[in-house]
Amino acid sequence: MGKILVTGGLGFIGSHTVVELQNEGFDVVIIDDLSNSSIDVLDGITSITKITPIFENFDLKDKPKVQAFFKVHQDIVGVIHFAASKAVGESVEKPLLYYENNINPLIYILQELQKLEASNFIFSSSCTVYGQADDLPITENAPIKKAESPYGNTKQIGEEIIKDTCLVSPNLNAIALRYFNPIGAHESTKIGELPIGVPQNLVPFITQTAIGIREQLSVFGDDYPTPDGTCIRDYIHVVDLAKAHVVALQRLINKTNTLNYETFNVGTGTGSSVLEVIKSFERVSGQKLNYKIANRRAGDIISAYADTTKANDELGWKAELTLDDAMSSAWKWEQQIKKNN
Ligand code: UD1
Repeated sequence: MGKILVTGGLGFIGSHTVVELQNEGFDVVIIDDLSNSSIDVLDGITSITKITPIFENFDLKDKPKVQAFFKVHQDIVGVIHFAASKAVGESVEKPLLYYENNINPLIYILQELQKLEASNFIFSSSCTVYGQADDLPITENAPIKKAESPYGNTKQIGEEIIKDTCLVSPNLNAIALRYFNPIGAHESTKIGELPIGVPQNLVPFITQTAIGIREQLSVFGDDYPTPDGTCIRDYIHVVDLAKAHVVALQRLINKTNTLNYETFNVGTGTGSSVLEVIKSFERVSGQKLNYKIANRRAGDIISAYADTTKANDELGWKAELTLDDAMSSAWKWEQQIKKNN
């Protein structure tokens, strides 16, 4: 089936994707520097799939190591590049760290792929590239808005770098997947999200509040122009998102792609408000959540959800799991973390 390099393969989305790749018969090599992940995730992956992926622990900013890796692993047929820093607030404080972490490795990997006879590349992009879109649901043709943060900018620049490289590299096939809001965990509760410190994202904050790590959730604003006044997002189950990577990779390997650089939205197509997410949590967990309405968070957009027609039609992919499925798995995962500590 061929060997696939997954960078950041011990992270939240990376680990779930490794599981789905192995389920489909791919051999996986992970590069991860454990900067925002744990080595225990390797055991989690192994206990789900009964296969231990090859694992290399190094920092992709080390160009000679990236070059040496591709010399040794000449049989790599595809790369899924997750490894990146992702905290929006931190990126504002430390822009150079974000530009260095998120751009340099991308360049080094593409330089190696350019040397190969044929190569396939999948990039973790984000719906953040659309900013507050003028039209909802958001299609891939929506204009790219000025980035709100260095983090968001690295996703835009990353896409541009890949597009420009593909223009001059007929041997390179690439897809950028623009994720909406990934949440949830694997149903086995062997892998899930492991936020470091205080979670910035809604769902881990909800589950940590419910389990008693956090006192109370603040709902950032209830005076937005939405039906219940809270912001709307497209929350996608991480397992559905992981499967989108597998079908995108198969499209590239089987050469059913129409252009050698393509972008796809990966979301459910349905928007949910913050209060709807809380209600879903309360429904599946059977407990009330302690929350209050607080001020708006700077930089938040009002509403974003995907038009998934392109992914449905061209990738033959569609999200299958519901918001309740995702909240239920996130809650089971939080309880599992507590049991293990
Ligand atoms: C955030 C990032 C986005 C990034 C994505 C990655 C910002 C402004 N945006 O998206 O660039 O690609 O994470 O996962 O940080 N909320 C609360 N209380 C909380 C936390 C969140 O009410 O304690 C609300 C937010 O206002 C928002 C929704 O929940 O309406 C989702 O927030 P979050 O999970 O942080 O995702 P995004 O802001 O969509």
